[in-house]
Amino acid sequence: MKNIVVLVSGGGTNLQALIDAEKSGKIKNGKITCVISSKPDAYALERAANNGIPARVIPRREYASSVSYSEAILEALNEEKADLVVLAGFMTILDQCVTKAYAYKIINVHPALIPSFCGEGFYGLKVHEAVLAYGVKVSGATIHFVNEKADAGAIILQGTVNVENDDTPEILQRRIMENVEWKLLPEAVSLFCQDRIEIRDGKAYVK
Ligand code: GAR
Repeated sequence: MKNIVVLVSGGGTNLQALIDAEKSGKIKNGKITCVISSKPDAYALERAANNGIPARVIPRREYASSVSYSEAILEALNEEKADLVVLAGFMTILDQCVTKAYAYKIINVHPALIPSFCGEGFYGLKVHEAVLAYGVKVSGATIHFVNEKADAGAIILQGTVNVENDDTPEILQRRIMENVEWKLLPEAVSLFCQDRIEIRDGKAYVK
C-alpha cells in the first residue's frame, strides 16, 4: 500500500475527489496518509479533518525563499514516508531539492491543456481568464509529473471540455473540474499506486 501525501492551498475539491475515490475503492493500492497545506485557513484542511486524515500546515509566508520553503516541505515528505505526492491545487512552485528527490513521484493537476496556458503565473482562475481572452474553443485539464520546470513534466492523462460563448472564468473552471479534474486525478493516482505508469524517454505511458 503506497502512502499518498496531498499538498493543498485552497478549497480542496480535488482533495475531496481523492478522498471519495479512496472511500469507494477506486484508488487501488494507495491511502491518503497526510495532507499538507501552504495556507493555515485553507478549507481543504477541514476536508482532511472531517475524514480523519492527519494534516500539517507549512505556511508559505513564513519562509523567505522558495528554496527554504521547499526544504521544509522535503523534510515533511520524508518524515511522512511519502511514496506519492499529489499537488491538488497547491499554489507554490517547488524548488528542485524536492522535485529531484521525488522524481516521477509528484503528480500535479493543471486546469488547462498543457503546453497551452501553463507555466509561471498560470494558476487557478487566471488560467481560465487567459483561455477566454484568447478565444480557444476547447480547454481541459492535464495530470502530469512534476519536474524542475513549471508545468513541464511528463503528461499522464488529459481530458477536454468545450468552451462555450457565454462562459465566465468561474463557469469554465467548474466545467473542467467536474468533467475532467475530479475524474482524472484519482484515476492517475490509482494508476501510479498500481505501478501502471511507465516512463520512456522522459514521457509517461499508461500500461
Ligand atoms: C484546480 O482547478 C486546480 O487544477 C488548480 O487550482 C484549482 C484548485 O482547486 N491548480 C492550479 O492552477 C495549479 N497550477 P481545489 O483546491 O478545489 O482542488
